Amino acid sequence: MSAVRRAASAAALAVGAMIAAGAATDAPGRLGGPATVDVDGTNAFSLPLPGLSREDRRAFSVGNALFRDNWVVAPASAEGRDGLGPLFAASSCSACHAEDGRGLPPVGDGSASAGWIVLVSPHARDGEAHPVYGRQLQDHAVPGVRPEVRVRVDPVREHGRYADGTPFELERWKISPEEPGYGPLGEVRLSLRVGPQLVGGGLLEAVDDATILAREDPQDRDGDGISGRAHRLAVGGRVGRFGWKASQATLEDQVQAAFSEDMGITSPLFPAEVLTDSQSGSVREPSGGSPEVDAHKVSRVAHYCRTLAVPAQRAPDDPRVALGRQAFMRAGCAACHVPELRSGDTSPVAALRGAVFRPFTDLLLHDMGEGLADGRRDGDASGREWRTPPLWGIGLVPTVNGHSRYLHDGRARSLEEAVLWHGGEAQRSRDAFVAMPEEERRALLAFLASL
Ligand code: HEC
Ligand code: HEC
Repeated sequence: MSAVRRAASAAALAVGAMIAAGAATDAPGRLGGPATVDVDGTNAFSLPLPGLSREDRRAFSVGNALFRDNWVVAPASAEGRDGLGPLFAASSCSACHAEDGRGLPPVGDGSASAGWIVLVSPHARDGEAHPVYGRQLQDHAVPGVRPEVRVRVDPVREHGRYADGTPFELERWKISPEEPGYGPLGEVRLSLRVGPQLVGGGLLEAVDDATILAREDPQDRDGDGISGRAHRLAVGGRVGRFGWKASQATLEDQVQAAFSEDMGITSPLFPAEVLTDSQSGSVREPSGGSPEVDAHKVSRVAHYCRTLAVPAQRAPDDPRVALGRQAFMRAGCAACHVPELRSGDTSPVAALRGAVFRPFTDLLLHDMGEGLADGRRDGDASGREWRTPPLWGIGLVPTVNGHSRYLHDGRARSLEEAVLWHGGEAQRSRDAFVAMPEEERRALLAFLASL
């Protein structure tokens, strides 16, 4: 090794050590601020945030086990892990958030879900629960109980061109519920959603409602074509931020909704099994206790989601990544994917209070146009509105989850396709991307992949 290279690598080591020590939490590449970790392998979404107390680390481990383990039908000897079903979509949290990352999207061959859910409403009563099938279609059931449906998902292709003439192909889904187990579904509105990666949940939870509300511009007074609305929740009056339509405000609520709706496990907030009146007469309800997951376990799982660290940006100083960042800014992406937010002082975890971090989201709902619309109201969010998803960790999805499918229903086969689907309030941004010369497009995608 030459003296020059030796000196250079010694300098690199020194920088590495400084970053590892968390010296510069305000550097742009420290996406989670104080909750950032230097990791880029398959465990990139699974680490606790640095500097947790021993007690907090213990709670993290307990929550981790509850998150990963398969729950089973009651009664079972698996102490404290029974109560699954009778109807459910998956038997563990990690089934839909593999390695704390994204669920496997539909594969387009009609096979059962492995990481996604399908919400349902009667066509005539937008946003309401289906009288027979409830709010969510369950394609799994305990022995002796019929699953609600099999959801068939087939790809439909569309084609377009960049301004420079380069052709592209997009894929979206055609969703067909088959083999209904409890009578005809009738005309319905369906919303297919993939489980997102969970990093940085505690930071998003700790953003004050007022910080989110300050970015709203429902009448588009600044004339940038982008309005943005907070999802004010009917219950509790809080501002929602979790889920593809920001329909939950806190991790405790999100976790209990997941146990209840995705796994058929009752909790303090949802003490009854999710069965409609027309089902409860005919469906056996094996009970794993009342509730099946108690407040203590709920708090451990919520703590786990709250303390998952955010991986640092890779190679923020790479010239192409730096160019891509400029292109991202010029195309107006940052109007919604806001580069920097600050948390308030309400988090139960001290490190997450008053933190500056870089999630690339405004946590607001935006009209994303007809192409992305699911046509189904969810609380106050319309069938065309989606919450800007955070972009941190997005470039590590292929490493952690072995696929590169993006957007709420996993239709985009690459980051490029995800950008090309943008419409509505993001139409100008999307058009700016389409108008870029190829090199600039590549740079922008390299920037996204570095997050
Ligand atoms: C059947 C699949 C499935 C299962 C099982 C599941 N989830 Fe989810 N999870 C999702 C989907 C889909 C979303 C987005 C929901 C929405 O858009 O409303 C989500 C959203 C979340 C979020 C919000 C993330 C964000 O930033 O928006 C958290 C936290 C979460 N889940 C935790 C859990 C926990 C904890 C469990 C186990 C108790 C669990 N999930 C079980 C599919 C699942
Ligand atoms: C008007 C607000 C808005 C603008 C402007 C915007 N986005 Fe988005 N972006 C969203 C929303 C909302 C979604 C989620 C849409 C969905 O899943 O259906 C999204 C999704 C994404 C995703 C996929 C995220 C995931 O988790 O799957 C990527 C990547 C992305 N945007 C990049 C960009 C880039 C690059 C630009 C600029 C060219 C941009 N966005 C401009 C609001 C916006």
